[in-house]
Amino acid sequence: MSKPERASDTPYGVEVEAKKNYFWCACGKSEKQPFCDGSHKGSDFTPVKYTAKESGKVFFCGCKSTKNQPMCDGSHKSN
Ligand code: FES
Repeated sequence: MSKPERASDTPYGVEVEAKKNYFWCACGKSEKQPFCDGSHKGSDFTPVKYTAKESGKVFFCGCKSTKNQPMCDGSHKSN
């Protein structure tokens, strides 16, 4: 399994809407971070679907090392 690119050293805070689907970029190459723009094509990666339970701000992982995809789990601080 290849390693994703580190898109950011900090998480992305995003206002999400209840019941809406979001596709988080797992490869780190998207120009539309933290979301997939199709740049993963030809790699081992596919985006991770996230459905918002409620409207509000959530933090998507930017370093792409989270163990809790697609949300930040603090991994950006340790690697
Ligand atoms: Fe990164 Fe699609 S562009 S997963």
